[in-house]
Amino acid sequence: MNRLNILTFPDPRLRKKAAAIDVFDQKLKDKAADMLFTMYEDKGIGLAATQVDFHHRLIVVDVSENQDDPLYLVNPSFVVLDETLDGYKEGCLSIPTFYEEVYRPKKIELSYQDLDGKHQKLIAEGVLSVCVQHEIDHLDGKLMVDYISPLKRDRIKEKLLKSKHVKKK
Ligand code: NI
Repeated sequence: MNRLNILTFPDPRLRKKAAAIDVFDQKLKDKAADMLFTMYEDKGIGLAATQVDFHHRLIVVDVSENQDDPLYLVNPSFVVLDETLDGYKEGCLSIPTFYEEVYRPKKIELSYQDLDGKHQKLIAEGVLSVCVQHEIDHLDGKLMVDYISPLKRDRIKEKLLKSKHVKKK
């Protein structure tokens, strides 16, 4: 398994819209395994293909306590079952060290395909609901900082650019 490079905000490639997946082959399974490995290494609970510069609709998620219950979501979409907005302090592997409160619908019904192309449905609440909505946003080129004020977003951008610069020296 390979540890993949994660793109960091404000990298413009994070704004690309991912394409639907229609080939369910070993290459896709290998990519999903690499993404899961990378996510565990970086102590994340979700990772979208966009974040590793692979612009296809694939997400890996694991919200279990021991990080031993992965979920692979191909071409995921959802309908809202409970529109009540819940606030949650979200983090993102593409926006390291920043946590921002984002409000999202509480309960969703998720439709997706597994790595074999089989259609699946899942009802998600709590952290799973938050995580899946956050990752689907990535596939559409949207980031959690789009939900906060432009002023705050610019501040985060500057700090991340600066820390990158320091690391390179
Ligand atoms: Ni993220």
